Amino acid sequence: MFTIIQEDLIKHNTDALIVGLFEAPKETQPAYEILNQALNNQLDDLVESGDVSTTQGYVSKVHTLGQLDAKRIYFVGFGDYDQFTVDRARQSFGRLFKQLVEDSIQSASLAIDSLYSDELTTYAEAIGEAAVMAPYQLETYHTDRDENRDELESLTFLTNDQSVAEAAEQGYALGNGANIARHLVNLPSNLLTAKDLALFAENIADKHQLKIDVFEREQIEELGMGALLAVNQGSDEPPRFIVMSYQGLDTWGDPVALVGKGITFDTGGYSLKPKDGIVGMKMDMGGAASVIGAMDAIGQIQPKTNVMALIPATDNMVSDKAFKPDDVIVSMSGKTIEIRNTDAEGRLAMADAVTYAKQQGASKIVDIATLTGGVVVALGDQVTGAMTNDQDWYNEVVTAADQEGELMWQLPYLDVYQKQVATSHIADLNNSPGRKAHAVMAGAFVGAFAEDTPWVHLDIAGTAMAESAHDLGPKGPTGVMARTLAKAIMNQ
Ligand code: BES
Ligand code: MN
Ligand code: ZN
Repeated sequence: MFTIIQEDLIKHNTDALIVGLFEAPKETQPAYEILNQALNNQLDDLVESGDVSTTQGYVSKVHTLGQLDAKRIYFVGFGDYDQFTVDRARQSFGRLFKQLVEDSIQSASLAIDSLYSDELTTYAEAIGEAAVMAPYQLETYHTDRDENRDELESLTFLTNDQSVAEAAEQGYALGNGANIARHLVNLPSNLLTAKDLALFAENIADKHQLKIDVFEREQIEELGMGALLAVNQGSDEPPRFIVMSYQGLDTWGDPVALVGKGITFDTGGYSLKPKDGIVGMKMDMGGAASVIGAMDAIGQIQPKTNVMALIPATDNMVSDKAFKPDDVIVSMSGKTIEIRNTDAEGRLAMADAVTYAKQQGASKIVDIATLTGGVVVALGDQVTGAMTNDQDWYNEVVTAADQEGELMWQLPYLDVYQKQVATSHIADLNNSPGRKAHAVMAGAFVGAFAEDTPWVHLDIAGTAMAESAHDLGPKGPTGVMARTLAKAIMNQ
């Protein structure tokens, strides 16, 4: 996808020459000056008239009418130089790549010098992400859908520095991981059962030669995963427990565990969701999707750490077999749980997966789940809710999120909350203490199973879906945190 070439800006032959443009003074931007001269100072007029804009994120197309070897120039507005960040670059390039695909441009070249940065590889990585994420389209089942869209096939960086192209490839791998997560979340639950999710994970594992174990009901029973089994109890579809392992060190051991909620559809069970609340619940495997997407990126990038991806997968259904409020169940850890609300099913499935992670010797855990409506109320749809029992591990995850431009905010994991999930007249824990602080309660419940293992909890119920199209992708599944998870692993 990405190559480099060192060539004169005005001699370079391409369908689309991409040039970044900061706000004035333009004279200090050599790429602009060279092109302006070659075009007899006509660019100055275009900037003057507003046909070429320096506003951040604004894309202006100029046809060169044979005056340069490049057919067209795409100027990308970068705004104020002092305010420019990798985040802004990623967003601006997102808009650019959407435009290129719209214009059916299949190969383009970027005057990377126009970024004026001495961290070009960091920017190149973000550009690689934008190139694959921004134009991404979700599958639909319209009978008249048009599947033959031209895609951008190559981007040449005008530089002699090969590490720029390598960084872009790395970004591409990360962005592709996010797209995989988007694809999975988009699939309706009749087309993505727990079995299907496991098959998909097997394909990803094959692609990168990762080790994978898919446990079926009998093995899940042998493992004693009573909490996962309780959630599955009402379903005709059997559960799956998916374990993917990536070995980046010479020997196996001390893996970082990525645990993703894989509820392929959440009806709420007997604590049934209302008719408006149930629509969209195919997204309830968003955590699993982000973990699988991250594993794809990790398999591609091959960082030097051991990683284990754990996915408890089932739907949450109603039937005469289903688990019920007041039931008492025994989790894999041995801890007993009073069921107060069958719609608080995610934390149950996650509890057993976290216990499995600990039994496998996980050094650190991140769990990621579309866990609560409460987090949407608290933080909205742009910011992922987070909790931790280990501030150092949290800082590592939030650093990765910053690098990826993904927002998260910490919720308190205080004793008072831990006590409330551990209050039941009949069992060790209860799965739903009530409405108050319920995003925190859900996290605290999972934390009770992480115990002393460094643990970070990510509640993506708000961020897994975008209400409208954005710079880095379409309306719908976002693939949120797939890149952050992979990045946190790469930073180990
Ligand atoms: N899957 C839902 C959370 C959710 C809500 C995800 C909205 C995406 C969008 C989760 O299983 C759930 O039902 N949570 C309940 C918890 C309650 C019963 C304590 C909720 O948030 O209402
Ligand atoms: Mn639920
Ligand atoms: Zn759920």
